[in-house]
Amino acid sequence: MRDEQGGLKIAVLVSGGGTNLQALLDAEKRGMFQNASIVAVVSSRESVYALERAKQAGVPAVVCARKGCASPEVYGKKLLACLQKIAPGLVVLAGFLPILSREVTEAFSGRIINIHPSLIPSFCGEGCYGLHVHEKALAYGVKVTGATVHFVNEVTDGGAIILQKAVEVLEGDTPETLQRRVMEQAEWEILPKAVSLFCAGRLRLENGRVTILKRQENAQ
Ligand code: GRF
Repeated sequence: MRDEQGGLKIAVLVSGGGTNLQALLDAEKRGMFQNASIVAVVSSRESVYALERAKQAGVPAVVCARKGCASPEVYGKKLLACLQKIAPGLVVLAGFLPILSREVTEAFSGRIINIHPSLIPSFCGEGCYGLHVHEKALAYGVKVTGATVHFVNEVTDGGAIILQKAVEVLEGDTPETLQRRVMEQAEWEILPKAVSLFCAGRLRLENGRVTILKRQENAQ
């Protein structure tokens, strides 16, 4: 959970380009994470650019491949073993595609957060990830979408909401242009902010709701 200096250990889980990982690495460099550090990156896929970003930042990275695992439960056991070796105090899903098994969500209950590229409860749940989210938003014709950071529980995209930020949908948007705007204007801002609040002990999770405590208060 904590390193030799007592700092909170953060593990970041990725599956793709790693732009959210990069936002976290940059935030750490700016001193946004009080008494905490990103100690490991875990990728569910080989040769994704997120691994290159970890290497450039000097953060140890491992591949815990989803490929070849017969079921989410089998992958869950593999991922749990990998995480237990790291022993993080916080697990951040940053573009991580596999659905976590109950075994993993229970082992790290209250200590896993995820970034989802919509304003939950819209456009979320099974099969709603990456570009599919923005395709659904455009198909529905919403004028505003955005991103959500939430705690992870056994329900896909069902955990308590920590932060959200709205982004305007523009005439002529494609799923790609909308995804980029949501990442630039929302994801890359609220994910580091949520991690910063967690590290500062300012997130109180009670009865499925999150309260953000003022600076002088503390969740403990
Ligand atoms: C982004 O759309 C993010 O919202 C979703 O995964 C996609 C890729 O993220 N969670 P990243 O560039 O790998 O961080």
